[in-house]
Amino acid sequence: VQNDEDFRPNFHFTPKKNWMNDPNGMFYFNGYFHLYFQHYPDDNVWGPMHWGHAISTDMVTWKEQPIAIYPDEKGYIFSGSAVVDKNNTSGFGKDGKTPVIAMFTYHDPEGEKNDEIDYQSQAIAYSLDEGQTWTKYKANPVIENPGIKDFRDPKITWDGIHQQWVMVLATYEKTLFYTSENLKNWTRQSDFGEGIGAHGGVWECPDFFPMYVGDTEEVKWVLIQSLNPGGYNGGSGTQYFIGDFDGKTFTPVEKMKNLGEDHSYWLDFGKDNYAGVTWANIPEENGRTLFMGWMSNWQYAQEVPTETWRSAMTIARELKLEKIDDNYIISSTPVNELKSYRSKNYKDRNVEIDGNTKIIDSAKIDLTSAEIRFKISSLQDTKYQFKLSNSFGDELLFGYDHSTQEFFIDRSKAGQIDFSEDFANKVSTAPRISNSEDLSGIIILDKTSIELFYDEGKTVMTEIFFPNQPWETLSINSEEGSFTMSEIEAYQLKFN
Ligand code: FRU
Repeated sequence: VQNDEDFRPNFHFTPKKNWMNDPNGMFYFNGYFHLYFQHYPDDNVWGPMHWGHAISTDMVTWKEQPIAIYPDEKGYIFSGSAVVDKNNTSGFGKDGKTPVIAMFTYHDPEGEKNDEIDYQSQAIAYSLDEGQTWTKYKANPVIENPGIKDFRDPKITWDGIHQQWVMVLATYEKTLFYTSENLKNWTRQSDFGEGIGAHGGVWECPDFFPMYVGDTEEVKWVLIQSLNPGGYNGGSGTQYFIGDFDGKTFTPVEKMKNLGEDHSYWLDFGKDNYAGVTWANIPEENGRTLFMGWMSNWQYAQEVPTETWRSAMTIARELKLEKIDDNYIISSTPVNELKSYRSKNYKDRNVEIDGNTKIIDSAKIDLTSAEIRFKISSLQDTKYQFKLSNSFGDELLFGYDHSTQEFFIDRSKAGQIDFSEDFANKVSTAPRISNSEDLSGIIILDKTSIELFYDEGKTVMTEIFFPNQPWETLSINSEEGSFTMSEIEAYQLKFN
């Protein structure tokens, strides 16, 4: 039976020791991708928050760095973002050194204990050594609490269209929009969220940025808005909105104006992708929108069966904005950088599947570090079910039911589940967004996670699991009997 280090992912980022939640302050500069994260270095559950730090040249392999920002007398360091201030609009730059500015929420635990309302405020810190060390601004907070209890998670973006810094932060039921010239003085411009979208819990960790629509010159703005609880399959989850921004106010596109609780604009429908945001300062010529989320769920994050470390991040993903008829959707796929870790592979075409048929086993590809791509042509009205299994008898079931047009993941037999009632009490589902007659998928497997990107990333599901032994076999079957799997490609991913 496995535990702790056996459960530590092979390639998803985890803290060396103790607790981690949201990704924070992600920016790219001089060849490095930076990832900060909500971190409690002294215990394996949530506590006084610090910003941990890790760096990578490719968003796949990470090197943990010393803790970047420590809590102080003003409070814990909650989630936030960082930007590279190339033109020194903040004036923090010195001796030609480019300042990096982080903005975070101060959470005053005393105020919270005393039932005050105004215990969260926004503050900044700057770094003159590319994010290694940080100096908190003397005049913090830069945004005082205006009398709103949940008031947090500032995410800054350079708005090149209106030549300003734009920042979004979340309150209980709304996203607030601010703008600034210098990253120190902020003007509240507008609110968004009343009566629109899912509101089963507190809105947290927003992100807001422009994107090109497909290969066109059309630009739309994307608002990512996590909430907890109220996610599509329960607990914490991440919805999004597409619209226009005039420099002050965000207006959703026609199709999204009347979104209710049960809409299908979710970055990920699985239970384990929360508080994800995008990297700042990705070079323009590169033009990618790069995203990473926390691969857990507040329903059980503090109870999962690991002791010395807790929680991993998702694989980094590239987001695309696509227009389908009069609708806009975000698709996500694993970043291309992952491909350079492919080693051994196995490929086949037109495989006849009759009953439960093994397609890969651990003699061919080690299923604890694998990328599997498949295609099924001419879907029939049946349930296509994949099964990961081991000789202990654990099973993880996932796949697609074309008769209901829903994807699913069932981890109720996937090993250790008893640590929380909410972990495997329901089969997670996701609506199919594409209406193609063919189904394609990318499956990213680590020791304790599966990330499913269907239809070029139009429907995504991410979930974690804790099997008693590593998976040994991947098989597939369909309720209606035989069918042909038109393509299967499996790659061993190798990290040293
Ligand atoms: C989201 C969140 C944020 C907050 C942080 C505290 O998971 O609740 O809203 O800033 O975690 O760790």
